[in-house]
This record gives sequence, structure tokens and C-alpha cells, in this order.
Amino acid sequence: MSDHDVDDIAFLTGSPNESGFMVNKRAMYEPGAVMVCSQKRACCVVTLGFAAIIAVALIVAFTKPGCPEATYTGEPVPGLSINPTAAPPSTPPTATNGEEFPWSEVRLPFHVRPLHYDITLHPNLTTRHVQGEMTIKLTTIEETTAIIIHGDELNITQYSLQNKYGKPIEIVKFLVYPPHQQLYLGLSEILRRGSNYTLRMSFETSLKEGLEGFYLSTYTNGEGEKRFIATTHFEPTSARSAFPCFDEPHLKARFHLNIYREPQHFTLSNMPRQTSIPVEGSNLVMDEFQESVDMSTYLVAFVVCDYQVLSNLTAHQVNLSVYTPPNMVDQASYALRVASIILDYYHTFFGLSYPLPKLDLIAIPDFGAGAMENWGLVTYRETALMFDKRHSSSRAQQTVAVVIAHELAHQWFGNLVTMSWWSDLWLNEGFASFMENIGAEVAEPGWAMQEQFLVEKMHPALELDALLASHPISTPVNDPAQIESIFDTISYKKGASIISMLESFIGRAILQEGLRLYLDLHSYGTATTNDLWEALTQVTRKHGNHLDIKGIMETWTLQAGFPLISVSLQDGQVTASQGRFLVCEENVTDPNEPLNTTLGYRWHVPLTYITSANPRNQTMHWMNLTDVEFDVGKDVKWIKFNVGQRGFYRIGYDSAGWNAIIHLLKTDHEALTPADRASLIDDVFTLIKAGSISAAVALDLSMYLKAETRYIPWHTALGHLFQWVQLIFNYPAHTLMLEYIHNLVLPHYHRIGWNDTGTHLERLLRYEILWAAVQCGNTHAIQEAQLLFFEWRNHGLIIPPNLRSVVYSTGVRYGTEDDWRYCWQVYNTSTIPSETTLMLQAMAQTRDPWLMQQYLEYTLDNVKIRPQDVMTVLKEVSKNPGGRLPAWRMVRQHWSKISQLFGHGSFTIGAIIKAVTSPFTSSFDLGEVESFFKEVDVGPGERALAQALETIRLHIQWHEHNLKDLTQWLHQHLSLPLTNTSSEQY
Ligand SMILES: *[C@@H]1O[C@H](CO)[C@@H](O)[C@H](O)[C@H]1NC(C)=O
Ligand SMILES: *[C@@H]1O[C@H](CO)[C@@H](O)[C@H](O)[C@H]1NC(C)=O
Repeated sequence: MSDHDVDDIAFLTGSPNESGFMVNKRAMYEPGAVMVCSQKRACCVVTLGFAAIIAVALIVAFTKPGCPEATYTGEPVPGLSINPTAAPPSTPPTATNGEEFPWSEVRLPFHVRPLHYDITLHPNLTTRHVQGEMTIKLTTIEETTAIIIHGDELNITQYSLQNKYGKPIEIVKFLVYPPHQQLYLGLSEILRRGSNYTLRMSFETSLKEGLEGFYLSTYTNGEGEKRFIATTHFEPTSARSAFPCFDEPHLKARFHLNIYREPQHFTLSNMPRQTSIPVEGSNLVMDEFQESVDMSTYLVAFVVCDYQVLSNLTAHQVNLSVYTPPNMVDQASYALRVASIILDYYHTFFGLSYPLPKLDLIAIPDFGAGAMENWGLVTYRETALMFDKRHSSSRAQQTVAVVIAHELAHQWFGNLVTMSWWSDLWLNEGFASFMENIGAEVAEPGWAMQEQFLVEKMHPALELDALLASHPISTPVNDPAQIESIFDTISYKKGASIISMLESFIGRAILQEGLRLYLDLHSYGTATTNDLWEALTQVTRKHGNHLDIKGIMETWTLQAGFPLISVSLQDGQVTASQGRFLVCEENVTDPNEPLNTTLGYRWHVPLTYITSANPRNQTMHWMNLTDVEFDVGKDVKWIKFNVGQRGFYRIGYDSAGWNAIIHLLKTDHEALTPADRASLIDDVFTLIKAGSISAAVALDLSMYLKAETRYIPWHTALGHLFQWVQLIFNYPAHTLMLEYIHNLVLPHYHRIGWNDTGTHLERLLRYEILWAAVQCGNTHAIQEAQLLFFEWRNHGLIIPPNLRSVVYSTGVRYGTEDDWRYCWQVYNTSTIPSETTLMLQAMAQTRDPWLMQQYLEYTLDNVKIRPQDVMTVLKEVSKNPGGRLPAWRMVRQHWSKISQLFGHGSFTIGAIIKAVTSPFTSSFDLGEVESFFKEVDVGPGERALAQALETIRLHIQWHEHNLKDLTQWLHQHLSLPLTNTSSEQY
């Protein structure tokens, strides 16, 4: 999926002042009631009216006495490492009928494995009822007298088992254990090793109300009619709620699907449709799909809809199509173009052709993640697929290109070769997040996607990973909630960052060759992180390089956090030492981290640098779990370490080092690349958070921004500067800080202006500068935005796409209740997805407490605000100083409803906690948040809560360390107007 901050999730993230937004991989409503019926009820279910039902009457077996006792409760299963630290449950699990459930693990035993699924589904989009039939061909790995299979919220009405000669094998016990979403079938005889069997099941369920499993979504067509579509989202563990299956990624099998539908609909699945057969005696049609290749259950997908389509054939003869609601098809051509280019490029890059005959991309109106890489049928949130150049911003366009590049990378990395178990999720997601910039760069060469990697991936990952409550990239996970919780910034962005670091020292060509080998060796199978290191080692050896890839990379994957490299220069001699960087001073040891005893928070660090003597060619020294010293020559005036910030570490210079760098930036900032400038800004502001240097250093450094014209450094700097503004919101320094930022921004505001022109990066920068000017209270900017807002509202002015965010947000902030209501109406009626996102952000800017309150309450009503959008609202409202307390109050007041809606094996609950508590800055707030969450169950939000609490502590620490220095510095520097000449002082 694309970035959890989404997901497949291309996570769409946003820094505090960016029009991007954050999307959780998972969201939203989980049906509260468990629908698995008791065995007695299952006996009585009469299945009527389903043409394809095969009558099998085995139900008497339930009550038959003398069932063989299951023999393997609690026994370790060889070959599967099941969370070795978990203690066996003290009480045996109890099935729905009160009997003991004979299997206590969350993972399935490995006695049987599926080869082939034949699935027939009859969903009804009006009644929500789904009737299903399936036949699974199994093979026996180890002798057994039981089959354990996943099933969740399914009413199993019939089941039977046959051997390969068609002879029935009696099922003497059928048990359901909802906590592990497992079904148990106890058999009257032993299944022989190496033999094949056929398991048949009939089941009933309903289309889900949330955004997982087989669920219903709606859109409004051009005539204002509400239309239903049925669609799927299975990753990671929801396939089991659509049909019984062996729902673990390594249990790959072939799928053959049939789906019943009404004539006005059509269906899509992973494979092309083979036939459509009218069903006798009804007006229905049954679509049959071609058999799939071997694939994991979480990648199965199907959709029933009445969409329109735009198609073409790629250079490598893949049928590529983009499906959208009928009134959006004119926004599909960009996606089609980008996907064609990227698919052809990946074909060449991976040296393997895309293995399916077709690839569909489809926009889903209600979608939890950014997108999901289902093999051959990639589902997208509308904003991640639709682009209209008259209306959508450059940022929105970039989201589309990046998310497509992410999902298409998964077609190889993830789909063709899949992680063996979810603990290696980072392999899938980190890699796709790494490739998304490469793919987007190929489709849009002018976008400097490699440079943008820093601000999109590296910086957010370093920020989260500096918390004690972070976690290692490779983390044991077991149950669905744990699995859910690692679809996070660490798996996606830190994963991508360490692959980028690896590329920086082995080179793109060797990385590519290693990836090809890895894909080739494990096609249609599964692999682990070790397999990737193996392949890369083999290739580097071949090229005569004897790096210990596994040893190097494990210091980054097995340990949480990253090193701060402290450097000093004396008489031409550099001393560099490493130690884990934690931004919060408290609790510097973590008792909960058993994995790190051998590595001791030391890393293999590729330490790179350039110097004033040799500014164009970098030098590298390995710090192999150690500190290093080396000579750079006595005439060196400055050194910049971590060139291009390709390494996942931070640099702490000594004060002479910082002074030299500040001097360089102020006199000749172009001696360093934009990436190096951005990395210095990110490092210095972060070190100040940690309290290790004075705020004055960052402020001195920031003065060079008067001359900075590039997007990457500005984006980094404004993110930090406005974070400070948030932190001092109710202190006297607040106005001074805004005034200072205004001084920095003003020359650029005049230079950049209100014409939506220039390169992609210039347009991204324009948005940031204009919005910064508004936030600093620049009257010209505010009036300009208000004027455009007025013309838009009253005379239908078409505002240039990249100005819209600023115009709408400013219009609402300084506008009336009617202005707000107008935006609400646009949110409800616009057919431009990028526009509805801007409305959600703009409405959060209101300064009217009543509107704010109402807006917050709308999030509890899925008719008013789609569940997929709730996070955006809560996050944006919490960033508005006037919205902080109302948002926190709302979350507390309606906690039971929120946790009912979002709290079930879903990552969203954690994101909600973070969004509403992270603006807090005082011990009082901290106490309040702590005591509230002590009383409630946060389920899968546990780690996010720990991160949120640590963030508040960090803010308190920031105040203690920096408020005085900051205030003093601002007083000094604002008493003299900041002019170009003042920077000469340095
Ligand atoms: C499943 O069975 C239960 C109990 O009989 C029933 O209440 C529920 O409606 C059934 N669900 C479906 C989708 O058939
Ligand atoms: C769904 O149910 C409605 C109402 O019972 C019926 O008219 C329609 O044909 C059904 N559709 C399917 C696909 O079964």
C-alpha cells in the first residue's frame, strides 16, 4: 500500500504547512458485531436461491461423540517462528460453542497448504448480502487429523472434504474461534503426507461498512444519483473476511473467481474476464475470470461497479486501463500516461516482464489507504489517481505520479516476490517507497524527485526514529493488530532511506543487478530480508567488492534509531564519534529492547564529506561500529559531512564547525547543493530540539534564507520555523517569531508573486512562500487571497491550481460563516477530488468556535464526512491554534464512539491520538493526556500513544532549553531591521 501516513499505501504526508495530507493506511469503520455464527445456528441455516449451491450434508457431525483429540495444542510448529517470546496462554482458547479450540497460535499450523482456490461470490449491492461457494485444493505437508483455516465474520453454512479420488472424509468437529479468526475442522481420518484433498465450503456474509474486506462504497453520478460499488481491500489480514482462506502471505495459491452481478454493472479482478454467462431464470450475469498466477491472499481483489474506462496498450503489450466514476473519466489521462511510462521502465529496470496480461488502476471513492497494489487491479483513493490540470495543483499531480510509481513497483517487489511474513513488511514497503521517487523521476524528469526524497522520506523518518518509542525496522509481529501497527513511517520511510543509503555506497548499477537476481531467484515465491542481502552480496562480490552487506545493513534494520555523528576538526585532524541520537533527554535506556544487546546501538556508518579544499568530490570513511579519526589537511575552512544526506544519520558539529558552515551559507550558499543545505537546516533544528546546542545557532543559520531560492531548503526550514511558532503560540515571543519569519520570506514573496508559473519546484515553493506570508500576517498577501476568494465565490473565477490552497484557507480564516458554508457545499458537490481535499483543509482554518465545533462533530457522522477523510479533519483542526482544545475535548467526549469506529485492529486510532495531542506543550497537558489514556483501551494505538506522550515531553523540554535564548535572539535581531547587509556581519 502507499504511505500511512498511507499506504498500499503510498502514504501521503504533509508537514505542518503543506497542502499535502496524511492518510492512514488503515482506516475506518469496523463492524462492531462479530457475525460468525455458533455451530448450532450454522446447522440450521438454510441456503436458498443460490444457483450454484452444492448440497453437502455433514452437519450431523457436530454432535458426534468421540472426536479425536487434537494433538498439537501449544506445540511449537517447526519451520514457523511464531513470536518466540510470547508465553502460551494460561487458559485454553474457547470456541463459540464453548468447547476448547484445539489450536492456540495466531499463526496457522503448516500441516496443509492450499494450491488452488475456486471461488464463486454472489454479492448484492442493494441488500449487502453475499453468498459464497468455494473449493480449495490442498496438499498435506505433515500428517494431520485437522484443518485450520482463517475465516472472519463469515457464516459457514456447509463444508465437506474429499480425497483425490472423490471419496468423502468425514468432518467430525467444526469449531469457530473469533479472537484468532480461525475455523477448525476435525477429521475422522488422517490426511496423508503428500496427498491432495478438496475442501468445499459454502458461506454467507455481508458487504462490510468499513474500508476493509469486501465492502461497499458510494459515489454520486452526474444526475445526482447515489451509486453503489462493491470493492475489496485485504492487506494485511482481511481476505479472511471475504472468504475462508489460508490468509498468510507465504501460502500462495492460484485463484479462479466467478462473480454474479446485475446487468448494469461489470466486474474486475486480478485477471482478465474470461466469459460472462447470463444466469437462467434471473436477470443476473455471472462473470468468470481467468485463473491467476500463484499469489498471496492479501493481493486478491475484485470490484463490482458501473464505471467508465480509459485504456491503452503499453510498449510491452500490457493492457493498461484506468477506471473511474463516469463523471471523472476526463481526469484519468494523466494517470494512464504516467503508468504506461513507469510500467515500461520497471520492465527494463527489473529485467523481468510484468507477468499478467492486463493492469487496471481504479479510483475508489471510500478508501482507507493511499492505494493498494492488488496484482493486476490496483485500487486508489481518488486523490491518488485523478488529475485535472485546470484544477489540480502541482502537489496533487506529484501525489498521483508518486503513488502510481509506488504501486507499480510492488507488482514486482511484493507481488511477484513477497515477504515470507509481515515482520519483513519493510522489504515490500521500504522498497516501493524507494522506487516511487525513481519511477516518478522517469515519468517527470524535471521534478527533482531524487532531491525531494530528502524532504518526503528521509526527514520524516529521522524525526520519528529519534524517539525512544520508535521501533526497529525488522520487528516481530504476530496478530493482526501488531501487523497493522507496522504500516508506519519506519517501515515505509526509514526502509526507503536505508535502501537509498545502501545505493549510495554500492551504486545504482549494482543495486539494480542485485535486485534482479533477488527477483529472479524468488519469483512467485517468498523471501526474507536475508535473501535480499544474499543476492546483493553475491553481486557485489562478483564485482570484486567484499563489503559485508548483511552485517552493515543489520545494524540499521535490527536496531531502533540511528546515530548522531559528533565531529570536530583540530589542526587538520577530524574526530568523529557515534552514539544513538534520542531527541528526548529522559529515559535514555530502553528496557524493552532485547534485540540490541549485541550491537549496543552502534552502526556501520558510511561517513562522507566534502571540504572547502575539495568541494566537488566526496570522500568516505567507514565507521564500523566505531569512532574514527582522519586527516583532511590544515588549510580546510569548512567541512560538510553526510554529503547530499544520503546516510541515515545526523551530524553534530562543534561550535567552530557550525560557525564555518554558517559563514559559508551566508557568503556563498551555492557552494553546497540544495540537498546539503536542507540537511544542515534539518540537523541544526533537530539538535536544538534535543537541547544540545543553543537556539541561536539555528537562527543564525536561518538568516541565510534571505538568499535561498530553492524549494527543498525552504520547505525544510519553514517546517521547522512554523513548528516553533506552534510551540510558542501562547508566549510573547510568538509575534516576534512571526515577524522574523516574515522578514526572511518577504523578499521571496515579492520575487515569486501571484502568477502560477515556473517549473514544478518553483510552483511548490510559491505555495509555501505565499502561505507563510499569510500566516505571518502579511496584509498584501491576505488581501490578495481574500480578493480571489471573493471572485471565486461570487463570480465563479477559476483560480490557478497552485494558488487555490492559500486562497481557500485564507478566505475561510478571515471569512464569514457563509464563506465556510460555501466551502462545505463545494466539499459535498465537487467532482474534482483534489478540490475536496483543499476544502477539508480550508474549513479547518475557521476562527469561529461554533463552526469549528460543528466541523468536529461532523467527523462522527459518516454521511457528512467520509470516514477516509476524518483523519485529515482532525489533523488540520488540531494544527489551528483555536482548534487544539476543541479537538482534544471532542476526542475525549466521544472516545467510546471513536474507538468503536476506528479502534478495531486498525492503525487509525494511533494516528488520531497523535494528531490531537501532539500540539501540546505543557506538563499540565501531559498530565491530562496521560491520565485520560490510563483509563481507556487504545488497542493497536499503544505505540502511537507512547510516541505522542514522548512528543509532548519533548515540547516541554524544548521550552526549558530554548525559550529564553530564542526570545533574546529575536529581540536583538529584530531591533535592527534585518537587511541584506546585516548578514555580512558573519
Ligand atoms: C450469520 O448468522 C447469524 C446468526 O444466525 C445471523 O444473525 C446473521 O444475519 C448471519 N449473517 C449473514 C450475513 O448471513
Ligand atoms: C439484489 O437484491 C435485489 C432485491 O432483492 C434484486 O432485485 C437484485 O436482482 C439482487 N441483485 C443481485 C446481484 O443478486
